[in-house]
Amino acid sequence: MAGWRNSASRYGMVAIGFHWLIAAAILGMLVLGTIMVEISPASPLKFALYQWHKSIGISILVLSLLRLAWRFANPVPPLPAGMQWWEIAAARGTHVGFYALMILLPVSGWAMVSVSPWNIPTILYGIVELPHLPLRGMIEDHKGAESALKEVHEWLGWGVVALLVLHVAGALKHHFVMRDDTLLRMLPGRTRRAATGGGR
Ligand code: HEM
Ligand code: HEM
Repeated sequence: MAGWRNSASRYGMVAIGFHWLIAAAILGMLVLGTIMVEISPASPLKFALYQWHKSIGISILVLSLLRLAWRFANPVPPLPAGMQWWEIAAARGTHVGFYALMILLPVSGWAMVSVSPWNIPTILYGIVELPHLPLRGMIEDHKGAESALKEVHEWLGWGVVALLVLHVAGALKHHFVMRDDTLLRMLPGRTRRAATGGGR
């Protein structure tokens, strides 16, 4: 069983909890975002789904900042030995890219609703109002700024999808082809294979 902190051979429970909670939330948000934009503006469901989307998105931003702080305080286990330089670069690049998108995606959404000519408030989980980012005063063309940020937000969403394909392919390659502990050490149970010294 993993301890709370990362060890030299595996991720700890805090890092594992952050990883799977944020991964599930992001996957849900990609689906929710894609569905909600298709609903007719006349439907009250659209408004409710947008509020859920914004609330979960801001939660992802907060969790990601906490996760980054935890990562700096708690070094991650080294990659398994024997990886090629390009495999190391792909793994590191994907992780850095994910961290960047986990921040930039919610911030672009927040900026979008902050500049929007509709000026709709964001009430997080129906409880507390999220202030707009202080961008409204700087912008004259609210419609133009909103559509530009919509484009950015959508492209960043596609960026997550692209990284996810690489990331999952990498995880499966480690597990089924290289047969090392990479996937197991991001799961709460035991590690068992020798290549990363897991289970000891
Ligand atoms: C990691 C977090 C987030 C993910 C993965 C995400 C993903 C998406 C996706 C896939 C769409 C649909 C894009 C399209 O097909 O047009 C979307 C739309 C939208 N998102 Fe997010 N989003 C996130 C965070 C946020 C946040 C924090 C806000 C605001 C506070 C936000 C506000 C919006 C709005 C207003 C739209 C609708 C845009 C439109 O009407 O065309 N999002 N999001
Ligand atoms: C949108 C969904 C996901 C995001 C944003 C994400 C993000 C990340 C990030 C940022 C890391 C690096 C952690 C660190 O060292 O600080 C990581 C590691 C990892 N992820 Fe994901 N992940 C997602 C989905 C998945 C899925 C579906 C799988 C399994 C198929 C997976 C398997 C792993 C594994 C095994 C590691 C550990 C890699 C290592 O030991 O270096 N992830 N993930």
